[in-house]
Amino acid sequence: MSHPNKSTLRSAPAYPESALPPFVQKLGRPIPLVQAQSLAFLMFEKPDLAATEAFLVDFGMHTVARDQGRLLMRGSGREACIYLAHQGERSRYLGAAFTVASEAELAIVEKLSGARRLAPQQIPGGGAGIELVDPAGKLLWLIAGQARAAPLPLRPPLHPFTNSPGMLRRVNATVRPPLEPATVARLGHVVMQTTDFAGMAEWYMRHLGLIPTDVQYLEDGSPNLCFFRLDLGGTPADHHSFVLAGGIEEKYEHSAYEVIDLDALGQGHNVLRANGHRHMWGIGRHVLGSQLFDYWYDPDGMEFEHYTDGDVFTAEHETHYVPLEMSGIWAWGDDVPPSMGVKRDLGTIFKIIRLLRSGRLSTARLKLLGRAMTRPRPWL
Ligand SMILES: [Fe+2]
Repeated sequence: MSHPNKSTLRSAPAYPESALPPFVQKLGRPIPLVQAQSLAFLMFEKPDLAATEAFLVDFGMHTVARDQGRLLMRGSGREACIYLAHQGERSRYLGAAFTVASEAELAIVEKLSGARRLAPQQIPGGGAGIELVDPAGKLLWLIAGQARAAPLPLRPPLHPFTNSPGMLRRVNATVRPPLEPATVARLGHVVMQTTDFAGMAEWYMRHLGLIPTDVQYLEDGSPNLCFFRLDLGGTPADHHSFVLAGGIEEKYEHSAYEVIDLDALGQGHNVLRANGHRHMWGIGRHVLGSQLFDYWYDPDGMEFEHYTDGDVFTAEHETHYVPLEMSGIWAWGDDVPPSMGVKRDLGTIFKIIRLLRSGRLSTARLKLLGRAMTRPRPWL
């Protein structure tokens, strides 16, 4: 194999919105109804709650309850629940719950969008809430006034004691991270694929007050993927709490959970592997968001990400635009697995034919999507 030419070692350009090349289209931002304050929990349907619980415990979550066909899991933070599963026929993602600042904000959305009121006992931690259904049929819960839980133990981070040339911070002491599941501190983000990127982006920005942090565009300049953060004003928010990627189906891609440091990521990897769980991708570092990551499959093949050391931005940080290509997903680490690229199985072909026939996808856009998703790093 030939040695990579130095010119192939390139990073994608990133343009601030105020200095966009003329062919790149801005992602329009609607006037939001409210500003969501946090991603609270995700909702799933699962055929085997015991197997799901066993995976999530090895993944580093704590069981709150498993009874009456419902599984509630939490992290070590103060949220009463970060993962909720109902016993059901099949494994599927149902939707996400975000918090808003007050019941007054719930009332605004309820009035303007015809949302349904939730009974307090439906909501882990109680309080008030409303249920909306997004254009793809997934649930969006907005909730307020939940009881906070007492935090659970989380070891201190090890990186303040990292030794570097010229900077010795650990003398007469060793690094011995405990061999235990990577304690999940909190839920970080959820990523969805959609056939209607523009419509779904508009809908979620309007109902959650999301800010586009990084927008990725196709070769024709049209936005096709966006990392959204919460609008917390001057308080730093994660680079993304919600991600939408334009594609050929409505699909949960993955959800991500923050752990304390790189050693937790590595030791947690060992625990998951020792207990027979299926690894997907990692350890590596992302480009957009900068997180150190490690991806795992749950017992039904749904993707779950451990991460640490992600970027945070306040509301004034400018939106940036980056070309969409596979090579932009990771800065270093193992090659991106083929399952994240374009699939050529019969099911995929049928999905594409249906989209083309219904006019929801054009052949020109399909070609652009295919090119973006099959362009790995030049040296791979
Ligand atoms: Fe992620």
